[in-house]
Amino acid sequence: MRVVRTVEQLREAVGFMRGAGQGPVGLVPTMGYLHDGHASLLRRAGEMCGTVVMSIFVNPIQFGPNEDFEAYPRDERRDLELAEREGADIVFIPAVEEMYPREIRSKIVVSSLTTRLCGASRPGHFDGVTTVVAKLFNMVQPDYAYFGLKDAQQVAVLRQMVDDLNMNVKIVPCPIVREADGLALSSRNVYLSAEERLQALVLSRSLREAHSAVEEGRAATTDEVRELLKSTISSSPLADIDYAEILTFPQLEPLEGNFPLVETDGEIIMALAVRFGRTRLIDNMIFTPKEVAALV
Ligand code: PAF
Repeated sequence: MRVVRTVEQLREAVGFMRGAGQGPVGLVPTMGYLHDGHASLLRRAGEMCGTVVMSIFVNPIQFGPNEDFEAYPRDERRDLELAEREGADIVFIPAVEEMYPREIRSKIVVSSLTTRLCGASRPGHFDGVTTVVAKLFNMVQPDYAYFGLKDAQQVAVLRQMVDDLNMNVKIVPCPIVREADGLALSSRNVYLSAEERLQALVLSRSLREAHSAVEEGRAATTDEVRELLKSTISSSPLADIDYAEILTFPQLEPLEGNFPLVETDGEIIMALAVRFGRTRLIDNMIFTPKEVAALV
């Protein structure tokens, strides 16, 4: 595994692998503090690609002024061990000055999809994500890029960017990885106290319960499912709901409150963002109500 820190070294390393016939090239962009979710992305990339590139970069331009950019957890030594174990060929770890040598004046803005859910709570966040991912795509020119569905809105936004701008890369969404008790893996879980960690299980529980309620016909409309999600989450005293929404996926269009979910064509997403103390966690479930109803 080669560790590179400059764009020039990165291009040279990827070019060498391509020249040696080690394609296709897969990119796994991350902000480090790697966990099993990231490992699953590396493994998927390894199954599909001859060369796996992982980037580790805590991207300042996707954090708001009062967010946790400085405090975001970092552990390069541990990250490199995991990357090597999971088969990365090239790891790119640039300094902020390497990615942004001067004030950035060009940004990629995906409209509409970025105005809801996390886009509403974190203004400018997705502009930072699309801009840094576009830069990484230009540097690596990967054939495939791997992203976890815990950030399902990020996946939808990046797919839109790639389609709109004819970028020559295929986005590969990968399933959410959970702890045995249901908590979705996140680098931010490390911030949780023992009590917050326990109460945070309400996220996955509320999604499972809402899904069963749709399956069993106990909740039929968007309003009913949203209310069920909110009342389950509110049973945890430490939970402070940012949003609990039901939208179409991947378009992220809202549905009328009294709209019968089984009449939706295609997939929907139940998406949650909830604060426990100073930690904001997200989780979601994507499913096709028609298929769920047909099982009953
Ligand atoms: O999902 C993340 O970790 C980040 O948003 C990403 C895609 C690496 C861009 O900084």
